[in-house]
Amino acid sequence: MPPNHGFPFQDQIAVDLGKRTVPVRITGSGTPCLFLHGFPLDSRMWMTVFARLSADYLCIAPDLRGFGGAPAERFSFSLQDLATDCNVLLEKLKIRQPTVVCGLSMGGYVAMQFNHHFPERVSHLILTNTRANADDSAGVEARLKTAQQALILGSQQSVGPMLQKLILPECLKNNQQLTTEVESMIHSTRPSTIAWAQLAMAQRPSFLETMKQWNIPTLCIAGSNDPITPPSVVQSMHHAIRHSRYVEIPQSAHLSPMEQPDLFASEVHQFIASTPR
Ligand code: MLT
Repeated sequence: MPPNHGFPFQDQIAVDLGKRTVPVRITGSGTPCLFLHGFPLDSRMWMTVFARLSADYLCIAPDLRGFGGAPAERFSFSLQDLATDCNVLLEKLKIRQPTVVCGLSMGGYVAMQFNHHFPERVSHLILTNTRANADDSAGVEARLKTAQQALILGSQQSVGPMLQKLILPECLKNNQQLTTEVESMIHSTRPSTIAWAQLAMAQRPSFLETMKQWNIPTLCIAGSNDPITPPSVVQSMHHAIRHSRYVEIPQSAHLSPMEQPDLFASEVHQFIASTPR
């Protein structure tokens, strides 16, 4: 029997990590799974998937530094700092057994850092709608511009247009609830958080070589119509990781877990159940 950590359903608690207190959504019981959100979003993006996984797993989703309900950050941070926060979080939650770590896009970059620095903590890795390569010089330039625009023009004008790439056009047109949820996360992300996160992502290393040495069951998930991390980009990660499985979620763009929560949850479930550690 998996341990029951006894957290109430869909609750959000404040966890003191020492230097900062972070809001964390914790739901369900069973094998612990850490879910890391994308940019410029927060832990709310996992709620629909949690409703489908919480009967079997202890689902944990923090708001990363400055995002969602987390306090504003005064200083810059790296993706490695975010991975270290996750390690402290698991310690504070007294989760000692290896954990399933699932990250979407920016959350995927953090998941790779986490696996690199704390491999003993990871039982399974799920890299969804993300990439392992670093930015090229044009990509870094674009990030610096977005950071500046956020500080000068605000969140809505700097990252608001991302909405068009995050979810499928037909979803934008027909699924008002999803559109509103994603929009509200984007617009509520602080300009300073946008700027710090852009600088952190601009400096991230490539994992494409390092991951060839990884020895961890990994699921690489792509959205069939993802314009930000297209299937070919996710496949290149899958080809680099020895013990990896690749799945493509149909009818989804960059936010596969929100656009197709049933399919996404079922892939996660099958993967964990069929690759015990
Ligand atoms: C995300 O969805 O987290 C972002 O698209 C990541 C990025 O900007 O590279």
